Amino acid sequence: MADLTPLLKQYHEIKRRYPDALLFFRMGDFYEMLYDDAKTAARVLGIALTSRRYGTSSDIPLAGVPVKSYETYLTKLVKAGLKVAICEQTELPDPKKKLLKRDVTEVITPGTIASEEMLDASAGNYLAAVIKVEGKAGIAYADVSTGEFTCGEAAIGEVEEHLAKIAPRELLLAEDETWRPVSFDAAIAPVAGYLFDEEIAAGKLLDHFKVATLEGLGLEGRALALRAAGAVLSYLTEQKKSVLPHIEGLRVFDSGHYLVVDEFTQRNLELLERQRDRSAEGSLFSVLNRTLTPPGTRLLRRWLIFPLRDRQEINARLDAVEELFTNKELSDNLGELLKETGDPERLVSKIATQRANPREVRRLGAILRLGAEIKGELKKAQSNLLKGLAERIEDFSKLATEIEQTIIGDPSVVLLEGGIINKGVNEELDELRSLTQDARSHIASLQLKERSATGINKLKVGYNSVFGYYIEVPRSLASKVPSHYIRKQTLVSAERFFTPELKELEQKILTAEERSKIIEYEMFLAFREKLAGRSRSFKALADVMAEVDVLRSLAQAARENQYVKPQITEDDEIRITSSRHPVVEKLLAERFIPNDVRLDTEENLVLLVTGPNMSGKSTYLRQVALAVIMAQMGSFVPARKASIGLVDKIFTRIGASDDLSRGVSTFLAEMAETANILRSATPKSLVILDEIGRGTSTYDGMAIAWAVIEYLHSSPELRPKTLFATHYHELTELAAHFKGLRNVSFSVKRTKDGVLFLRKLRYEPSDQSYGIEVARLAGLPKAVVERARFLLERIYGGETVSIDEILTEKKVQLRLFTGAVQDEIAAELAELDLDSLSPIEALQKLIRWQEKLNHPTK
Ligand SMILES: Nc1ncnc2c1ncn2[C@@H]1O[C@H](COP(=O)(O)OP(=O)(O)O)[C@@H](O)[C@H]1O
Ligand SMILES: [Mg+2]
Repeated sequence: MADLTPLLKQYHEIKRRYPDALLFFRMGDFYEMLYDDAKTAARVLGIALTSRRYGTSSDIPLAGVPVKSYETYLTKLVKAGLKVAICEQTELPDPKKKLLKRDVTEVITPGTIASEEMLDASAGNYLAAVIKVEGKAGIAYADVSTGEFTCGEAAIGEVEEHLAKIAPRELLLAEDETWRPVSFDAAIAPVAGYLFDEEIAAGKLLDHFKVATLEGLGLEGRALALRAAGAVLSYLTEQKKSVLPHIEGLRVFDSGHYLVVDEFTQRNLELLERQRDRSAEGSLFSVLNRTLTPPGTRLLRRWLIFPLRDRQEINARLDAVEELFTNKELSDNLGELLKETGDPERLVSKIATQRANPREVRRLGAILRLGAEIKGELKKAQSNLLKGLAERIEDFSKLATEIEQTIIGDPSVVLLEGGIINKGVNEELDELRSLTQDARSHIASLQLKERSATGINKLKVGYNSVFGYYIEVPRSLASKVPSHYIRKQTLVSAERFFTPELKELEQKILTAEERSKIIEYEMFLAFREKLAGRSRSFKALADVMAEVDVLRSLAQAARENQYVKPQITEDDEIRITSSRHPVVEKLLAERFIPNDVRLDTEENLVLLVTGPNMSGKSTYLRQVALAVIMAQMGSFVPARKASIGLVDKIFTRIGASDDLSRGVSTFLAEMAETANILRSATPKSLVILDEIGRGTSTYDGMAIAWAVIEYLHSSPELRPKTLFATHYHELTELAAHFKGLRNVSFSVKRTKDGVLFLRKLRYEPSDQSYGIEVARLAGLPKAVVERARFLLERIYGGETVSIDEILTEKKVQLRLFTGAVQDEIAAELAELDLDSLSPIEALQKLIRWQEKLNHPTK
C-alpha cells in the first residue's frame, strides 16, 4: 500500500467505510468504479470494463458512467438490489491542486431514492421499518422524495396488510428478526438492533422535530411506533448524510381513524389495479383518476386505500366535491392552474434538501405564482374545506418576485458554469460582465483594425476552447504578417498568431469569467439555502395543490359518470337506490342494470344472494362494497340516491375457484381468511362473502357456508352487515329460521332456447340453480345436458341415491342415449330418398333402426 498514488489512497480510505456499497467515485465528468465494483457494474449495466494503472500499480479494473446521465445507471443498479455510495468532489476544481477533497455525500438504496428522474411519479417510494414485540408491532415508513413520514402500531396479523398497501421498496428489520413479508417485494435491510432502541429513537425524533415531549409528536404511550420511526429516521440520516429538513412532520396513524380495507379486499375489489394483469386500467382508481399532477395522483391513491371514518371529515370532502361538481367554472379554472404545476411536492423536497439546480429554483418561483392564483380561485369558494385550503396558502408574491429577479429566465442546470444570476443583483458581477463584454467587442473590432494595418483582407480573428483567441492568416500570405505577431499554431492551409494586445484582452476575459462563475455559484448556494429555510410553507402549498387536485378529480369523475352525493349517517343502514358498479358499467357494451341495496341491523342484516352463474351476483356484492369505500373517501357514488351508515371495516372473501389468480390449492387460505373475518368483524363492519366453500366438496362447502352464516348472524358481538352469494340454493331455506337473513336473487327468464339474464334483483330466493341451462348455452353436447338434467333430478329427488344405484338402473341406461339415437334416426329418415328405395332396402333400414333403439350403446 505504501506506494499507492494519493488518489488511489483516497479511494481506499473512502471505500473502506462503505464495504457493502458500490462506490461511485467522482472523477471530473465521470463516476468511476474500481476493482470488484467495476466488474459488478459492468455486468449489471452492460458497460465496458477496462483497466488503468495508477503510478506503479498493476492494472486495476475500471468502469465509468458519465455524470450527465448517471441516474439511469444508478436506477438499474439499485433495482438490481445493490447499494450505491456517491462520492463527490467536495471542493471546486483548482488547477493548482493535485488532489481534490472527496467524500460520500449520499448512499442510495431501494428505499432511499429521492430523485424524481428515477421514480415512478404516480406512486410513493417508501422505506419502512417494522419492530415486533409480543403480538404487537410498530410500523413506520417514509418517502424521502416527498418528505412524507408516517408511523403507528398494529396487531402483528395486520402488519403485512398495512405495509402491502404502500408496497415499500426497502424494509428495515432488526438483525435477529426472522419474519419476512410475502405479499410484496421489498429489499430487506437487516440493521443493528440498537437502531430500534427506545431511548435512542426518542432522542433522535425529539431532536429532529425540535419538540420537547413525545406527546407533542403524538407518540406518548406508543413505544413501538416510536421505535420504528426512530429506526427509519436514523437510517435515512445515515444514508443521506443529511439532517433531512424536508421531513417536517410525523403522521401517526391510528387504526380508528380510517375505514379498514385489508390488503386482500383492496386487491379483490380492484381498487388500484386489476387482479388479472395488475394494470391500473379497469380499477376503481382508473375510473376516479382525473388528477392533473403527480402529487394529486399519489394522494388519490392514498385516499382510496385509506377511506375515512369520521362523519364530519367525510362531509367536508363531500361538500367540497359537490361545490366543484356544480361550479364547473371554478373547477375548470383550478384545473388550468394545476396543469401548470408539474410535481411541486418533489420539487419542494429538492429545495428543502438544497439539491435543486438553478432551473428548479426558477421553477419554484413559477409554482409560487400559481399558488397565488390558486389561492385567488379558492377564496371564491363557499365550502369550508376549499376556503380553509385557501388560507393555508401563504402570500408568496414578494418571494416569487425575488426569485425572478435573482435567477435568470432560462438558467443553466449546472452550478459551476455561470448563467445563473440576473443582471442588477450583484455589483461586482455586473462589473465583471461588462468588462468581459468590453473585451469581447474590442476583440471583434480587432479584425478590422488588423486587416487595414496589415493589408491582409483574408485575416480573421477566431476562438477555440483549446488555444483561446488567435489571428488567422492563410498560409500563402503568412510572410506578410508584421513582426510583432507571434506564431501560435500551424494548420494545413493557415497560420495562427497572437499579439500581446490580443493576449491581454483574452486574459481579461478569462479571469473575469472565472471570477464571475465563482460569484454566481456562491450566490446561488446562499440563495438556495435561504429558500430551504422556508420549505415548510412551500410544502404546505404543495399539499394544498395535491388536495385540490384530488377533490377536483372526484368532482370531474362524478360529472362524467353521473354519480350522486351520498348521505353519510351514523344509523347503521346502507340504502342505495339504483346502485351501479363503477367499473363494470364502463366496460359493458350493453346497458348496466341498476339495482337497489338495503342493509340494516334488523331484517336485512344478511343478504343471501342466489342465482345462476353469470347472473350478476359477484358484481352486485362488489358494487355495494365499492359504494361504501367511495362514499367514505369523500367521493360521489354511482347511484340515484345513497345513504351510507358509517362502516368501520370492510372484508371480502372470494371462494377459491372464483379466484383463479391465486392458484389451485387455496382452500386453506380461503378458510384462514374467513377465520380472520369471524375474529375481527364488528357490528359496524361490512362483510362480502362470495361463494365461499367452493374450494372443497359440495357437502363440506355447503356445511361450512351454512355454519359461517349462522355464526355471523347470531353472535351478538359480530352481526356485521353481510352479503353472501352462494350457488347452494338449499341455503335459502335458512331464511325461515333466521330473522336477519334475507333471500334475494337474480332473476333469469327461461326462454325457448335457454335463459335470459335479467340482472334484476328480486326479493325472493332463486328457484333453482340454472347451471345446466348455462351449460347448454355454452354448447355442451345435448346428450350430456340431458343426462345432467336427469342426474340432478335423481340426486335431489328426496332419498339419497348412490352412484352405484343410479348406474345399475336399466331404465336409466336407456334414457341416457335414446335422445341422441332418436335424433340420428330422425335425421336419416328426413333425408331418405323414397323414390329410389326398394321395399327390401326399406325393411332393412327399419330393422336396423329398431335395433339401435333397443340397444343404443352398441
Ligand atoms: N347489473 C348488471 N347489468 C348488466 N350487466 C351485468 C350486471 N351485473 C353483471 N353483469 C354482467 O354479467 C357478468 C357476470 O356477472 P357476475 O357478477 O360475475 O355473475 P355471477 O357472480 O352471478 O356469476 C359480468 O361480467 C357483467 O358483464
Ligand atoms: Mg360470481
